[in-house]
Amino acid sequence: HVAVIDFGSQYTQLIVRRVRELGFFAMLYALEDFPEIGKPGAIILSGGPRSTSDADAPDLDFEALKAFDVPVLGVCYGMQLLNLKFGGSVEASDRREYGPANLFPVNDSPLYDGISEISQVWMSHSDTVKIIPDGAKVIATNQHETPVSLQWDDRFFGIQFHPEVTHSHEGLMILKNFLKQAKELAPFKIDDFKREMIDNIRTTVGERQVVCGVSGGVDSTVLAVLLKEAGVKTRAIFVDNGLLRKNEAAEVQANFKRMGVDIETVDASERFLNALAGEGDPEKKRKIIGNMFIEVFWDAVGDAEMLAQGTLYPDVIESASNAKSKASVIKTHHNRVPKILELQAQGKVLEPLAELFKDEVRALGRSLGIEDDILQRHPFPGPGLSVRCPGVVDRERLEIIRECDAIFIGKLKEYGWYDKVWQAYAGLIPVKTVGVKGDERSYEWATNLRAVVSEDAMTAEWVDLPAKLLRETSQRILNDVKGINRVLYDISTKPPASIEWE
Ligand code: XMP
Repeated sequence: HVAVIDFGSQYTQLIVRRVRELGFFAMLYALEDFPEIGKPGAIILSGGPRSTSDADAPDLDFEALKAFDVPVLGVCYGMQLLNLKFGGSVEASDRREYGPANLFPVNDSPLYDGISEISQVWMSHSDTVKIIPDGAKVIATNQHETPVSLQWDDRFFGIQFHPEVTHSHEGLMILKNFLKQAKELAPFKIDDFKREMIDNIRTTVGERQVVCGVSGGVDSTVLAVLLKEAGVKTRAIFVDNGLLRKNEAAEVQANFKRMGVDIETVDASERFLNALAGEGDPEKKRKIIGNMFIEVFWDAVGDAEMLAQGTLYPDVIESASNAKSKASVIKTHHNRVPKILELQAQGKVLEPLAELFKDEVRALGRSLGIEDDILQRHPFPGPGLSVRCPGVVDRERLEIIRECDAIFIGKLKEYGWYDKVWQAYAGLIPVKTVGVKGDERSYEWATNLRAVVSEDAMTAEWVDLPAKLLRETSQRILNDVKGINRVLYDISTKPPASIEWE
């Protein structure tokens, strides 16, 4: 594997992702854990917010690093640190270089095989390397002829820019060139990984019974099928919170049936909707739904010998880095509620997907024989349609959303757009406006259509859907859905808007 050592850059997680996209298994390690990083085939030192001249600058055991005897790439702070270790110097500056820059490879180095003579890269730093030690060479400069890439010997490379962000146009290829230097690195194969996971699950679980929650979403579905494949005793529980889309509960049940996984459905619609009655505040609604889920789920579970959950690698990295940086605003992940932490302390929580990114979970799902339709489903929020129904939620409003949404999603599928957008839905704007239906004046609500592309849900752009698709969707909604006399298309990017309306 490729060990990525975290010096705290906001992009570190992306490095891991990019390496995996290149077909190699990568893992992120906290600096405190170094040198306990197994037997890596290559090591990447990430960037970080600190300066090497800080009194307590993050440091690592250079002798231990050399002893691994594998190629090392220092990115940003990582490069500055390597330069110091090799006897060079780093100059602190108050000016920050931030944004696109030109990269000029200047010296023959395998790192820049096939890279353009001028290549756009993304910079984000204030310190720069100053004295270059004997035996090291500058392998690229920027437009000001400042060294931005060094090579200290055959296997130590440094780059000042961030190859992992897409603004570095040939960043992926530079990473690939680096990984080519790692002779011992084996490509990552999801089938091998699957077999390992199954063995691990069998050993960890033994004769115990594992409980897991399923939602019909990709992660929990892959998890449940994986447990079935491992042949351990499993109970899969599906909570119908009354906030699902049209026919969703029935479809989820049918899907699992086809896959040969027994699920227990708990119809708790009544409980959820009663608890939500009259509540219009978005945060309170979320809280009610979150607490009710825990209540209903654990009522159904009773005493669990073991709990399996579909936590993914980004969640793990996020919780870990939050814990370490003691970030002032800690986002409590729903997989880390007190009840679960308690079980975890007793060694009763199984998270087999915790080393995988979303696209790898899909690949695993494919390898488990799960249908593409299920694996390519758009994300759907835990609080369900509640976040698409601003203000008070009731059966009438939910019914309207369900009908509008089914029409819109149907059209997206019909036109081949469903798989091209990252997430799409129809929501309700509970504001009455005047219109005409037949010979009569109407006074009804509006629906908003939203379709976005996104990489990680942190940012999103609205999708320029064909006018024909929108026209047909609108026509059908206006004809068929009682209570709606206006259809709007949401053309807001995130930020500043969010994907959902609440
Ligand atoms: P926003 O609206 O914040 O949504 O732009 C970003 C992504 O997260 C989903 N989302 C949630 N998912 N529980 C979830 O499991 C939640 O409470 C939740 N809130 C939003 C949303 O659908 C979008 O994909």
